[in-house]
Amino acid sequence: MANISTRFFGLELRSPIIAASSSMTGHAEQVLKLAEAGAGAIVLKSIFEEEIYHELQEELSLRDNLHSDPEYLDYFDYVIKEDNIRKYLKLITDVKSRTTVPVVASVNCVSSSDWVLFARKIEEAGADALELNMYLYPKTSSTAENDEQFYFDTINRVLQVVKIPVSIKISHYFTNLPDVVQKLSQTGIAGITIFNRFYSPDIDIHSQTVVLTEVLSSPHDYILPLRWTGILSGITSCDLAATTGIHTTETALKFLLAGAAAVQVASVLYKEGPSAITRMNKGISDWMDEKGYENLSDFNGSLSQTTSSTQAWERVQFMKYFGEKTF
Ligand SMILES: Cc1cc2nc3c(=O)[nH]c(=O)nc-3n(C[C@H](O)[C@H](O)[C@H](O)COP(=O)(O)O)c2cc1C
Repeated sequence: MANISTRFFGLELRSPIIAASSSMTGHAEQVLKLAEAGAGAIVLKSIFEEEIYHELQEELSLRDNLHSDPEYLDYFDYVIKEDNIRKYLKLITDVKSRTTVPVVASVNCVSSSDWVLFARKIEEAGADALELNMYLYPKTSSTAENDEQFYFDTINRVLQVVKIPVSIKISHYFTNLPDVVQKLSQTGIAGITIFNRFYSPDIDIHSQTVVLTEVLSSPHDYILPLRWTGILSGITSCDLAATTGIHTTETALKFLLAGAAAVQVASVLYKEGPSAITRMNKGISDWMDEKGYENLSDFNGSLSQTTSSTQAWERVQFMKYFGEKTF
């Protein structure tokens, strides 16, 4: 039987299928089911600094004005933050004591001091690695330069305070994606995951309102991260993983051929449950047997732009297609 082990987060993983951060990975029992199903690693639901801040605002709105003095507010902010961190650290220690599958904590912060505080505590709780869930939505109030600097500053701060491997999960909203990703990969991080998926707006023409699209991805959403996996995998100094739209064995194999060391899945777990991971592990192993591959490294990255020298990854116009078609 083929060996499907790989390396990501600076760790040896038994499978390239990683359970991505989501509410499915926010409870110990659920995490253990994903581990039993064969996940290579599990990224816990992110702890969001902003969510803690909203909780604080809600609590305060329920209280009377007597409690609006700054010292009380500081104290209250501290209590809520501590309570959230405590629950998160308990999740880490719980799952770590019950599975040997690597457990990766995930953090999303706004203020630089909290990135550092959370990272330090997460390491102490025993997480095997840390994923920084990083994104800045481009706005006219900032510049590409300032936004990019935020990534480098945050990574530097976190790397200074923890010894566990640190990876980042990013969006594709960069002015020059290959340039930034290459530089980020040289900062000392263990891995980069492309690309996080966000709520996206749509328009309902009946009510004539702006609405939100489906929370879960569709199996066709993999095309954007696939292109960039093919382009970026050969030029980064750290491992690359992919996420978004990976629902089938075939799609997972495409990413491995394009050069991803692993893939992170979330939506398919909501649709199918943890058995989706077992199915994909078996599918990869069967395909490798059929092709005569013993290890992932026998074919991993063989179709990346660097290895295959194909120009297809960078082709953006349809001229040939339109040149040949008639109506
Ligand atoms: C309901 C839901 C909750 C999510 N929560 C988080 C989160 O807390 N942190 C994070 O980094 N990504 C989160 N994600 C993004 C997923 O980890 C994943 O990267 C993304 O959904 C793309 O993968 P998919 O197409 O397999 O869903 C969430 C996704 C979903 C659907």
